[in-house]
Amino acid sequence: MAEKEMMGLEDLLKHGLKDMYYAESKIQKALPKMIKAAEDPDLEAALEQHLEETNDQIARLEEAFELMGEKAKAEKCDAMDGILTEGDKLLKDFGGTPAGDAAIIFSCQAVEHYEIARYGSLRAYASLLGMDEVAEILDGILSQEEAADEKLSDIAESSANPAAAGGMDDEDDDEDDDDDQA
Ligand SMILES: [Fe+2]
Ligand SMILES: [Fe+2]
Repeated sequence: MAEKEMMGLEDLLKHGLKDMYYAESKIQKALPKMIKAAEDPDLEAALEQHLEETNDQIARLEEAFELMGEKAKAEKCDAMDGILTEGDKLLKDFGGTPAGDAAIIFSCQAVEHYEIARYGSLRAYASLLGMDEVAEILDGILSQEEAADEKLSDIAESSANPAAAGGMDDEDDDEDDDDDQA
């Protein structure tokens, strides 16, 4: 009973960092499969870029652990395991079909939104705790995740979804669509 009552926001922050350290290393292993399966060169390039960012994010999480006087340690993240297992299955079912790229984006945006949710919370905890450098690291990572998500929406809307729908959508039907994906 005593031990549980001691858990506070800093513990939750440390737990969250371990969760994301695990998640990022799983993403690092999953992205090359997605890159290989992607047909659209823009999608391939976006995923390549995000793989590089992911490598960098892992290093930055290690810095955050260090700033908190903690050893970098991963803690199993069931949510990310589930999203990536589902992504594997989608790749098997849809890879090589007209909906292949749309399915890759479908999976990747689930990953990005999970990351955005978690980094948003963790950044808020670090700020509240006055851990400005940690908050800054988390803010930088969060910006990369948001940019990756937006880029995926752009590719989905401009090419992957229309290709999956069966129409090649050659030239712009630029009625500003404000129902952005994700
Ligand atoms: Fe990430
Ligand atoms: Fe990401």
